[in-house]
Amino acid sequence: MTESEGIERFIQPHLQGITGYSASTSPDTLKGKIDVPMDKIIKMNANENPYGCSPKVMKALSRANNLNIYPDDGQMELRKIIAGYAGVAPQFVVCGHGSNTLIDFLVRLFVGPGDEVINAVPTFDLYRLSTLIAGGNLVNTSRDDKFNINLDAMLAAITPRTKMIFLATPNNPTGNLTPREQILALIKTGLPVVIDEAYYEFSGETVMPLTHEYKNLIVLRTFSKWAGLAGLRVGYGVFPAAIAAALMATKIPHNVSVAAEIAVRESLDDLPSLQGKIKALIVERSRLFSELQSINYLKAFPSKANFIFCNVLKGSASDLHQQLQKKGVLVRYFETPLLKNSIRISIGKPDQTDTLMKALRQIEP
Ligand SMILES: Cc1ncc(COP(=O)(O)O)c(C=O)c1O
Repeated sequence: MTESEGIERFIQPHLQGITGYSASTSPDTLKGKIDVPMDKIIKMNANENPYGCSPKVMKALSRANNLNIYPDDGQMELRKIIAGYAGVAPQFVVCGHGSNTLIDFLVRLFVGPGDEVINAVPTFDLYRLSTLIAGGNLVNTSRDDKFNINLDAMLAAITPRTKMIFLATPNNPTGNLTPREQILALIKTGLPVVIDEAYYEFSGETVMPLTHEYKNLIVLRTFSKWAGLAGLRVGYGVFPAAIAAALMATKIPHNVSVAAEIAVRESLDDLPSLQGKIKALIVERSRLFSELQSINYLKAFPSKANFIFCNVLKGSASDLHQQLQKKGVLVRYFETPLLKNSIRISIGKPDQTDTLMKALRQIEP
C-alpha cells in the first residue's frame, strides 16, 4: 500500500501535520545519556513543586480502598470542597484531569470550524493547540518587550466570529501579571473571557470575586503547582452556571480519578503546611532573581509565578539547556519565532538554586 493510500488519509485535513504541545523533558528519558545519577537530577523545567505534595495525601492514598470503583461523575464532594476554597458556590465549579483538559473542553464548547479565538503571545501553548484541534482560527496579538498585553490590539481583533479570549495571569512562560483594569476591559466585551490562574497561589492576585458579577468570566486554576499534584492531574474552573452545566454534560465521564479526588481533599485539609511551602518558594524566587543578576549572559524578568523567564544574551538557549542538562539541571528553553533564545527556570529548593547557580557560573557561552 502506498503512503497516499495509508490510514493517515482519514485524519481530518486540518489535523494533518499539526504541531503538538512540546512537553518538558522527563528525567527517565535521560537515563544513560548523562553522567548524573537519576536521583541527582534537578528538575526545573515544568513548574512542578519541588517539595512534593502534602504527606497527608500520601498517607490517604496508601490507605485508599476504593480505587476499584469509578469516581463520582457529578464531582459532588470535589466541587463542594473546591468551591469552599475558591469562595464560590459548588454549581459554578467543574473539575478536570488537570486544567489542561478544561481548556480543551471549553474550546470544544465554544469554537467550531472558522471561529476565532483571541490570544496574547507569547503564552501557554495549549490555547493554540486546542483552538486548532477544534478547527478554529487563533488570532494572536503580541505582548510588548516586558510581556504586557496589548489591550487595544486585543479589542481591535474582535470580529463577529470571535468566540473566546484566553489570558494567563501570571503568564506562562513570562511570569508577569495582567492588571485587573485590563482584564475588566476584556470582560466588558461580553465575550467568554478565560482567565487562567494556574499560578495564582504564587501571585496572590485573582479575579475570582469578579465571577459573582460577570457572567462571561471563567477562571481556571490547578492543583499541579501549589499543591504538588501535577502527577495526579487535577484542576478546576469557575464558570457561569450555564457553562458549568454544559461542561458537565459534555465532558468525558469520570474525568477526575478517585486518587486525585482523595488528593484534593487531603490537600485542602492541610492548607497551612502547603501555604508554608508556597511562602518558601516565593522567598526562593526573590533569591534566584537577585542571584541571576550576576550572570552576564542572562536577562531575568521579574516573576509572580513559580518560575523565572530569562533572555539568553550570549550563545544559544538550546546550547545552554544542553550544557545544564549535562550537569543534571533541567530547564525549559525556547527558540521559536514567538520566543527567541530564552529559558524558563522553575523555582526549586535553596540547595537546588545553589546547584543551578554553580552550573550557570561554570558555563561560558
Ligand atoms: C498557564 C497554564 N495553564 C494551565 C496549565 C495546565 O496545568 P494542569 O493541566 O497541570 O492543571 C499550565 C501548566 O503548565 C499552565 O502553565
